[in-house]
Amino acid sequence: MTYGGEPIQRSKVTVRTLREMKERGQKIVSTTAYDFPSAVIADQAGIDLILVGDSVGMVVLGYDSTIPVTMAEMSHHVRAVARARPRALLVADLPFNSFQASAEDAVRNSGRFLKRGAEAVKLEGGRRMLPQIEAIVHADIPVLGHLGLTPQSVHQFGGYRVQARGREAADALLEDALLLEKAGCFALILECIPLELGAEVSRALRIPTIGIGAGPDCDGQVLVLHDLIGLTFGKPARFVRRYADVAGTMRDSLLAFGEDVRSGRYPSEAESYLAAPAIPKAEPSA
Ligand code: KIV
Repeated sequence: MTYGGEPIQRSKVTVRTLREMKERGQKIVSTTAYDFPSAVIADQAGIDLILVGDSVGMVVLGYDSTIPVTMAEMSHHVRAVARARPRALLVADLPFNSFQASAEDAVRNSGRFLKRGAEAVKLEGGRRMLPQIEAIVHADIPVLGHLGLTPQSVHQFGGYRVQARGREAADALLEDALLLEKAGCFALILECIPLELGAEVSRALRIPTIGIGAGPDCDGQVLVLHDLIGLTFGKPARFVRRYADVAGTMRDSLLAFGEDVRSGRYPSEAESYLAAPAIPKAEPSA
């Protein structure tokens, strides 16, 4: 089977597959999924890594940020995605306050996600999170790091803005990336950083980088599913490319349904059930 001209690899994606993809110079394609149908469709499209992101809080649950998202909410979505048994590597995002306080919290909550079907966890943060990352890796749970614009730190950053534009901050991020690799992360998300830095970090690491607003030279790219299919409201970030207008398609479908119901055009006889035909009475035998 091919998709967009590329043969779709059918074997299960593991953390090892992603490393081999980097070595071969093959780009990693990733998106978020929060429910069963999206996971099935992402898998049919040959996505390599499905992230059950805490972005679910903003794009599905209607929160203003990812901060209110709880382990219970994440677990519900991780279970739904895991039921699709995707070929893609399934990564669950540790929400705010589930790992920052201690390595014990981090291991316990990562373990919960694995019991619910995740194959790896993601957590936001640089060198300050090394004890957590090392503890999770020691528990044999693969960890995806996340540097740059880490949305759980939005209040610390004072808004969602591009990170590490200056040389000093770029050097600090590069150092964080090397430390996270040494601590055992299998890959890193790089969010909203200059493209030059995305390229520099990707060259410096042996593990793959997956960019979101980090330029074309990362080893892979991730976009939030609802952004890329046009099911988010408001002005998208500069790095978002919209491939569809699913919100428009849903709105038009519902408008057409409403018109059909109000005008009596729906349902037709073909869309209705008929009573069983009357059974003719048997003639009494003479
Ligand atoms: O929560 C999420 O969806 C993410 C991606 C934007 C990488 O962290």
